[in-house]
Amino acid sequence: MQRVNVTASAKPEIIVIAIDGPAGAGKSTVAKALAQKLGISYLDTGAMYRALTLKAMRAKVNLEDGAQLAQLAQRTKIEFKPTGQGLNILLDGEDVSEDIRSPEVTNNTFYSARAPEVREIMVKWQREIGQKQSVVAEGRDIGTVVFPNATKKFYLDANFEERAQRRVKELREKGKNVDEKELQKELGDRDQKDFSRKVGPLKKADDAIVIDSSGNTVDQTAEILLDYLR
Ligand code: DC
Repeated sequence: MQRVNVTASAKPEIIVIAIDGPAGAGKSTVAKALAQKLGISYLDTGAMYRALTLKAMRAKVNLEDGAQLAQLAQRTKIEFKPTGQGLNILLDGEDVSEDIRSPEVTNNTFYSARAPEVREIMVKWQREIGQKQSVVAEGRDIGTVVFPNATKKFYLDANFEERAQRRVKELREKGKNVDEKELQKELGDRDQKDFSRKVGPLKKADDAIVIDSSGNTVDQTAEILLDYLR
């Protein structure tokens, strides 16, 4: 795969590409493809909120209690292990890459995401990662809160029907039974929670480039983003 140089200086600078947008807009696949093309790391911030949620569910912590979730986060180690295809997520050393994508974790992650105490910890961890290495970071508050000085910011969107269809396809490919109406309802609920959260809501940064990925393949969208970086 061809690599793209985005800096002309002899000394490699740390670059941060921020990608925000709603669930199902294609952020993770596009961010992965872009990171690979640029030869830099991919940072999946949603996986961090998911991993903490999984740990809280297993430990039967009251998910309504943000302070308890934050205490749990302080005793938690979340790491990313790059693989040929993407990233494995390690929760206190255990590979939870599959478990954090379960419908239960997906539907409960809003508890961790809405707790200001938790977000403070997550944002700190994410900044530490982005200070050490170049990253393509994707999430909801990357360009607005985590990396307001990112090298480039994108807001990736797609129409609701297509976002829902992408989720249906993804789950069916994993052999899961999917009720399309139920999935649409869940996606609508997640959108509403993402946009209305008091802290770190999903919001386009003023200086973000908006890309509508409706009708595009991952590669087509990644190419559009790359064109902006060249
Ligand atoms: O992108 P995702 O579906 O893996 O995100 C999981 C959840 O975490 C979702 O409910 C939104 C939330 N999230 C967030 O609040 N802030 C981020 N930077 C990333 C994800």
